[in-house]
Amino acid sequence: MSFRYYYADQIRQKRPEYKGTDEQLQSTIDDISILYGAALREMETKLQILSDDFDKTHAYMPIHHIQTRLKSIDSIMEKATRYGIKDPINNLDQVRREILDIAGVRVVCNYEEDLHTMSSILLSQEDIELIRIKDYCRNPKESGYRSLHVVVALPVYLVNKKKMVPVEIQFRSITMDAWACLEHELRYKNKGKLSEETVNTLKECAETLHNVDEKMSRVRHEVLKYDSKYSDY
Ligand code: GTP
Ligand code: MG
Repeated sequence: MSFRYYYADQIRQKRPEYKGTDEQLQSTIDDISILYGAALREMETKLQILSDDFDKTHAYMPIHHIQTRLKSIDSIMEKATRYGIKDPINNLDQVRREILDIAGVRVVCNYEEDLHTMSSILLSQEDIELIRIKDYCRNPKESGYRSLHVVVALPVYLVNKKKMVPVEIQFRSITMDAWACLEHELRYKNKGKLSEETVNTLKECAETLHNVDEKMSRVRHEVLKYDSKYSDY
C-alpha cells in the first residue's frame, strides 16, 4: 500500500503562491500522508479489536461498519481559510495544529446507546489523549444533525520518533448516519441552499429517526433478555 495521497505538481497548479520547491512541497505533504494515513489505520484497528472483544465478552457486535477518510488538500485549504489562517499552503504547520479533522473516522454503530459505550472504552485506553468532544446526540445541531464527535490524539511510531496525531471520530447510529448522508447530498446538490420548508421537513425526519432509534433500543433489550449468550454491560 502506498502512503502517497497528495501530489506536489497537482497542488502547485492550484496553489502557485507556494514559496518552496516542488521537492520541499512533496516532502512536507508526504509527512502528512504518512502520519495521518497511519493514524487512520491505527484507529481503525483499535476499533475493530474492541468490536471483536465485545462480541466475545457480550455476544454482541456494537459496530455496524467503519469508514475512514483523509481530507483532501483542497478541503484542508478551504477549511484553513474559513478558520482565518492566512496563506495556508505556506503555513502548513499552523494548519496541522488548528485543523483537527485531517484524519477522519466514522464509526457507525447499531444502536444509539453504543456510541457513548464505544467512545468511553476508547478514551480509557492509556495511549489515547482526548482533545475535545462535541455531543450532537444530547445537543443536536439546528439542522437536526445528531452524532458524537470525539477528537483524540494517538501515537504513531516512526523510524526514530513518536508523533501524536489528531483524529476526528464521528460515532453515529445507523439511522443518524442515514439521515446525515441523505441531508448532506441534498444540501450539496442544492449548493448549500435549501428552502425553509425543506430544512423543516429534514428536521422532522431527524426527530422521527431519533424516535425510531429509541424504539429499536427498547426492542433490542426486550429480545436480548431471552438470549443466554448475551451478557449485559
Ligand atoms: P467543519 O468540519 O468545518 O464543519 O467544522 P467543525 O469540525 O468544527 O464542525 P463540526 O463539529 O460541526 O463537524 C463538522 C462535520 O460534522 C461535518 O464535516 C459533517 O461531517 C458533520 N456535520 C455537522 N453538521 C452537519 C449537518 O447539519 N448535516 C450533515 N449531514 N453533517 C453535518
Ligand atoms: Mg469536519
